[in-house]
Amino acid sequence: MRNSGFDDPFYQPADHFFPANNKLALTFDDITLATLFSEILPRDTQLDTQLAENLRLNIPVISSDMDTVTESRMAIAMAANGGLGLIHYNMPERQQLSEVSRVKNHVHGLIQEPIQVTPEQLIGDVLKMIEERKFAFGTFPVVNEKGKLVGLLSGHVVKPRYAKRKVAEALTPRAQVHTIRQKELGKDPIARADKFFNEHPGIHKLLVVDDKDNLRGLFTMSDVERITQERDAQFKPARDAHFHLICGAAVSATRNAFGELDRERILNHVGALVERGVDVIAVSTAHGYSKGVGDTVRVLRDAFPQLPLIAGNVTSAAGVEYLADCGANAIKVGQGPGSICTTRIVAGVGIPQMTALYVSSRAAAKKKVAILADGGITKSGDIVKALTLSQAVICGGIFAGCNEAPGEVIEIGGKLYKQYRGMGSFAAMKTGSAARYGQPANPTQKVAAEGIEALKEACGSVDRVLAQLIGGIQSGMGYLGAANLAQLRDKARYTRVSPAGMREAAPHDVVELKTGN
Ligand code: XMP
Repeated sequence: MRNSGFDDPFYQPADHFFPANNKLALTFDDITLATLFSEILPRDTQLDTQLAENLRLNIPVISSDMDTVTESRMAIAMAANGGLGLIHYNMPERQQLSEVSRVKNHVHGLIQEPIQVTPEQLIGDVLKMIEERKFAFGTFPVVNEKGKLVGLLSGHVVKPRYAKRKVAEALTPRAQVHTIRQKELGKDPIARADKFFNEHPGIHKLLVVDDKDNLRGLFTMSDVERITQERDAQFKPARDAHFHLICGAAVSATRNAFGELDRERILNHVGALVERGVDVIAVSTAHGYSKGVGDTVRVLRDAFPQLPLIAGNVTSAAGVEYLADCGANAIKVGQGPGSICTTRIVAGVGIPQMTALYVSSRAAAKKKVAILADGGITKSGDIVKALTLSQAVICGGIFAGCNEAPGEVIEIGGKLYKQYRGMGSFAAMKTGSAARYGQPANPTQKVAAEGIEALKEACGSVDRVLAQLIGGIQSGMGYLGAANLAQLRDKARYTRVSPAGMREAAPHDVVELKTGN
């Protein structure tokens, strides 16, 4: 369908719109996208995105490498939904290796560390544990002090009337417990477990053991059924060539005691991450257009020619070109847009995100690298706007309230929250992230915080949050007649929004009812 010439002066493609607005840096709410003739139904849009030759996501969403956002649970949930999680580096290097291993060894649907009980415990102790830890299930594998499976404690006997009995008296003995050897799971463990449940009507649990009969995991029929149904879902999990979920890890431009780049330490650590199967390394700092970051990327590129590398953060074309020349495949764009960031206030620097993305994206196209829009995203509409100029978005705040984010749920005044803090906040820098903000690593020295500590309302599972976001992205693509993300970038036309237009964009002049979704 042809466009009308009347539209053209008002709704302009990026290469007209942003240069025409070059006197004022713009962010998400400053602009809106014009709709176009469409034959595309939102549900038919494709969201896969290429970040490096050997790094492809099925949805263009990445969770931030922040210590209140991404550890293994979040990375597993992100990859299971087709995205990517970047494990943060505010932890000892050895722990980061374990976090990556957890993601890479995760078998979707297999509970790898099931809650266990011992034969000597009383049923009363088990009831207390269920009550205290708010478990919604009551069946537990019974394991002796050597880790060997000795039976299964069925929910039927975990009752107050048996409270004084020992688990050993009430368990279903080992010989009657259905198990499968870990090595028999094959390439498709879910299909194997599904077959087992078909062949054993009435059995809802299948335990996984190794050759020495040590407990290695647990399948439940309800999980397997859910996953089998999800297989028909549009967005498949993001997996590597060996069918493992993909996982990223962040590193900093670590310096030694003399203030020089600690090449050896960086190489050893990244080498160990690669051995664990990491799919992408992000050299994450607040100022990516810097010698330390460039040198780190160069060192890694030389040592690991095939390893996808993300680097950042920058907000200029020169920064993108520099990091691309150093060997980065994808560049993080964003300085100060984050919901917990105070970089613009403290240091007086940073660029509103849409202008930063436009400038960066033009250099990225020339250098054939990808752009990741990092920070400031609070709603799915922001993601649609960001994706008109980038290959994927990185979100912190949106995921920090999820069950899968690190940290406990806190109740305040009847509402549930989780902690969320900037990696440049005092608290995070004390735990190790100071290098990211060019601050001294010694927490007793005076440092200038560039982030705050905050709370996010608890918001349920990553599956649920991503379903909402993806629905919004697909809807935006439908309005622009874009069947895939490349078409979204090609077709986008922008216009400025006045403060009155912004008010008009949100619900107004009504009393909003909570729908309880
Ligand atoms: P959102 O808006 O998704 O932003 O919560 C997450 C992104 O913010 C960056 N980040 C910081 N920026 N000071 C900053 O100026 C900080 O303390 C800080 N911590 C994180 C980071 O890019 C993240 O992905």
